[in-house]
Amino acid sequence: MEYIVSARKYRPGTFSSVEGQDNITVTLKNAIKNQQLAHAYLFCGPRGVGKTTCARIFAKTINCQNITTDYEACNECPSCKSFNESKSFNIHELDAASNNSVDDIRLLIDKVRIPPRWASTVFISLTRFICCHQQLLMPF
Ligand SMILES: Nc1ncnc2c1ncn2[C@@H]1O[C@H](COP(=O)(O)OP(=O)(O)OP(=O)(O)O)[C@@H](O)[C@H]1O
Ligand SMILES: [Mg+2]
Ligand SMILES: [Zn+2]
Repeated sequence: MEYIVSARKYRPGTFSSVEGQDNITVTLKNAIKNQQLAHAYLFCGPRGVGKTTCARIFAKTINCQNITTDYEACNECPSCKSFNESKSFNIHELDAASNNSVDDIRLLIDKVRIPPRWASTVFISLTRFICCHQQLLMPF
């Protein structure tokens, strides 16, 4: 049986399983419901409160091909499955603390040139992004 580290194994896979962050999950669900997606979202807060978790659920849900009536990802369609198995070409996570040069971002742009296979949106998550990284967004 494949070993999965506990932080990944127990990471919530739906908005409803995120504890104590209703203000965030409801806001994200409403954005999906009203089809008003911004081109970028900032998840700010102390360590370990669910920023990456919420970003990943959001990415998966907006790409789900069979979204539930409660605006949750189905976790069964090809897009959800590839997200859950970390095989999706449409989600890119990058540690902005160590990938902090304009060239790093140019490489990222090259990666996201591949058009989405099933999904509609390419989602990029930059973690540990701080205000002094603003110049990194210039190549976008
Ligand atoms: N609100 C929450 N509800 C349920 N589980 C949570 C919640 N917040 C964090 N966790 C759990 O804690 C682990 C770490 O969460 P996550 O990586 O999303 O935190 P983070 O805010 O991105 O932290 P960091 O600041 O270190 O990047 C995850 O595996 C997840 O299972
Ligand atoms: Mg994080
Ligand atoms: Zn799905």
